[in-house]
Amino acid sequence: MFKEKFREGIISAKQFDRDDIDYILKKGKEMMNVKNSNILNGKILATLFFEPSTRTRLSFESAMHRLGGNVIGFSSGEVSSIKKGESIADTIRTVENYSDCIVMRNPLEGAAMLASRFAKIPIINAGSGSGEHPTQALLDLLTIQEECGTIDGLNIGIVGDLKYGRTVHSLSILLSNFDANIYFISPKELALRNRYKEYLQERHLKFKEITKYRNVLDILDVLYMTRIQKERFIDQEEYERVKNSFVFREEDLKVTKEGFKLLHPLPRITEITPDIDAYTDKAIFFKQTNYGLHLRKALLAELMAD
Ligand code: CP
Repeated sequence: MFKEKFREGIISAKQFDRDDIDYILKKGKEMMNVKNSNILNGKILATLFFEPSTRTRLSFESAMHRLGGNVIGFSSGEVSSIKKGESIADTIRTVENYSDCIVMRNPLEGAAMLASRFAKIPIINAGSGSGEHPTQALLDLLTIQEECGTIDGLNIGIVGDLKYGRTVHSLSILLSNFDANIYFISPKELALRNRYKEYLQERHLKFKEITKYRNVLDILDVLYMTRIQKERFIDQEEYERVKNSFVFREEDLKVTKEGFKLLHPLPRITEITPDIDAYTDKAIFFKQTNYGLHLRKALLAELMAD
């Protein structure tokens, strides 16, 4: 049972095996036919965001409202008692008295794991520093499955900041449950860290590391573009050097396959030019945000419904 396995919450993509992924993607697809419901009537979701967010926080909150539940929380660490020096552990042990599930984003990589150790209710990791963002990766897979009809057998390029990009880490981990060919594409300074590569090798994920997406663009089914994570760089000069490493332009679309799909977890900065947005059959990153709503409805229902 999904609820039993994930009773402590969703902290890492490593918790998911292929059956769990297939199950939650199926539930996410079913939620596309459920605009409003009362299955979470009387339940309360707490959204604790210590870092900025548009999509993750608002889609979780919208999902909760759509399922008949209520939401409490904050969108900045500046307005919580963490600002006065309170610990994450004490915050969690307080907020669990007011809610049935906690969605948390925090700049510390181990924050969600720490929170789950203290909580008696499920914790959902909505982004932990440059570590993981597992629910984004689940919605990315739902998007690929719905738009491409499959995930197995695809050629998938993952481009940009593979060192600091938490969506990339969770997506790569989830993809290790599939028989896909992955191209990790980044400047050498922003390559996937060894600890992730070693995990993916142990899981027999088929991947190559390259530095230019244009070398493989004509064979890709999916290109997952990501922004360079300015806020994670200790040395801003290094950020300035790599910030424009990749810019996907209209001319790039001309060499892509007919069924090609361009994804991005967003926010986008300069890595996809706005003229691409009109090509809605291939540029599906706003559709991706809608899949996110349904996937998060499914997760909340699974974790909280009686
Ligand atoms: N993809 C994503 O996490 O977006 P937000 O930072 O806007 O939540």
